[in-house]
Amino acid sequence: MSGAPAPKGAVQGRPAGGDGPLVVPRHVAIIMDGNGRWAKKRMLPRIAGHRKGIEAARTVTQAAGELGIEVLTLYAFSTENWRRPAEEVSDLMGLLRHFIQSDIDELAKNGVRLRIIGNYTALAPDLVALIDGALERTVRNSKMTLVIALNYGSQAELVSVMRDLANRAKGGSLDPETIDEAMVDGMLDTQGLPPPDLLIRTSGEQRLSNFMLWQLAYAEMLFVDTLWPDFGAQALANAVAEFGARERRFGGL
Ligand code: IPE
Ligand code: IPE
Ligand code: MG
Repeated sequence: MSGAPAPKGAVQGRPAGGDGPLVVPRHVAIIMDGNGRWAKKRMLPRIAGHRKGIEAARTVTQAAGELGIEVLTLYAFSTENWRRPAEEVSDLMGLLRHFIQSDIDELAKNGVRLRIIGNYTALAPDLVALIDGALERTVRNSKMTLVIALNYGSQAELVSVMRDLANRAKGGSLDPETIDEAMVDGMLDTQGLPPPDLLIRTSGEQRLSNFMLWQLAYAEMLFVDTLWPDFGAQALANAVAEFGARERRFGGL
């Protein structure tokens, strides 16, 4: 590679609310985990935890906008989550359906653009139609982008890029030597988005669970013990403050 590429996860400085400039990540990605444990602790069914989790997602989306975060990605359903009991999968889909119906007006009004990563077209046809409507409705919004990872798996996403590239090369329309990072970036579900600067995972688990393996190359990672339904505006502000205290090097000095 020639020359030093510009850091892909650049951050923006913002005017001080208090003392000193607040460094706000452009893109925050969250693995929302711990809904089931939250419910279990209260002897409630798991769906009660998922319901509370949606409330947390709503609060955190609003708080992210207020903090000046440009892109918020929420991992809502993984390609591996199909392994859960059918009843839980169906509960989760029902909650998602309800969330889009109840929140789309507010999101649209607040200038939020909705994007989906993952193979959402494999979901129930009515849900796909609902999502398509919401995407279309918010496509011209630019205050903040809310990315929902739905039926998302990073390995499936990468395999699809590889298959595409291989087919193009086989068909003669692509010289393999011209494949570079930017080309791959542009073929991912996240194309056009800045990579996450900050990854947060709640509930104490310290793993990626097949989430954005390519895009997180230089993200700062923050693992917190808080269960997702208990994560709120203050917790997000704390995470952003912690991010601001980190030194990012992108391989340089
Ligand atoms: C996260 O909470 C929500 C989804 C994965 C859909 P979990 O349902 O994984 O909660 P725990 O990990 O069982 O507590
Ligand atoms: C990751 O959480 C997926 C989502 C938050 C949607 P999981 O609870 O499914 O992850 P594992 O199974 O603990 O790795
Ligand atoms: Mg979990």
